[in-house]
Amino acid sequence: MPSFRSINLALSAGLHWRLPKQFTYPLALAYEQTIMELGASLDSGLMLDVGAGLSTVANKSLGLNGAIGVIGMDIAEDALHTNTDLDYRLVADACKTWPLADASLDMIVSRSVIEHLADTGTFARECRRVLKPGGFGVHLMPGRNAPFAILNRLLPGSISRRLLDWIFPEKKELLGFPAYYQNCTFPEIVRLFGDAGLTVERVYCRYYQSTYYAAFFPAYLAFVAYDLVVWKLGIKRLSSQLMIVISRDSSAN
Ligand SMILES: C[S@@+](CC[C@H](N)C(=O)[O-])C[C@H]1O[C@@H](n2cnc3c(N)ncnc32)[C@H](O)[C@@H]1O
Repeated sequence: MPSFRSINLALSAGLHWRLPKQFTYPLALAYEQTIMELGASLDSGLMLDVGAGLSTVANKSLGLNGAIGVIGMDIAEDALHTNTDLDYRLVADACKTWPLADASLDMIVSRSVIEHLADTGTFARECRRVLKPGGFGVHLMPGRNAPFAILNRLLPGSISRRLLDWIFPEKKELLGFPAYYQNCTFPEIVRLFGDAGLTVERVYCRYYQSTYYAAFFPAYLAFVAYDLVVWKLGIKRLSSQLMIVISRDSSAN
């Protein structure tokens, strides 16, 4: 007999496939594609994945030129050593000075990490410092004003952890880190990197966050309605996920 959870998931999936594709398009896919596109312009060099964790989507299997070395940096040594996508591993706090030389990297990426940083100002300034002139960065993060992010901040850590485990059992290892969402809104993230001396090339906003509630169809339905309204009105500061592409001016010193 189907479980309560599987019935709700099936109902939510039925609605999901009827929603506009531009609305549901996963930014995680756009993140991988952008890294591939930008990486294709490099003949060689070094890419840093900040908060690489257990795996680096931006690894060579994505088609990055084999001559590009991939460095994974993370505060958690264990996760880094499990990550087999890396050429080099660096245990370091992204909120402190990075153990990397000035202008030494061609590309810096991060996925689901900025929201966990207590000092995003240092992070952005370190991005600027270690990027070579002409280098670029791609960063994917959730939006601070998304309903799930608000809930995450309101609920005690142990409860949000248990909820996340129930909603996304397959992502157990990836979720539940303390989250601050500092500068994780459209205007703030643009200002953060701009103030650090980097050029903001593009910012993508996604509004569809209802999947968090797919295991309980009534909640999913209500949030689909909310997400569609915010999307249609284009209220960027309420977007649930952001991807920013930045570069360091090629004439910078
Ligand atoms: C949600 S996981 C994302 C992992 C990976 N980027 C991915 O997309 O699968 C967040 C990662 O950020 C790391 N992290 C959190 N705070 C950090 C900090 N201050 N400095 C470096 N890494 C940090 C965590 O250890 C964890 O591996």
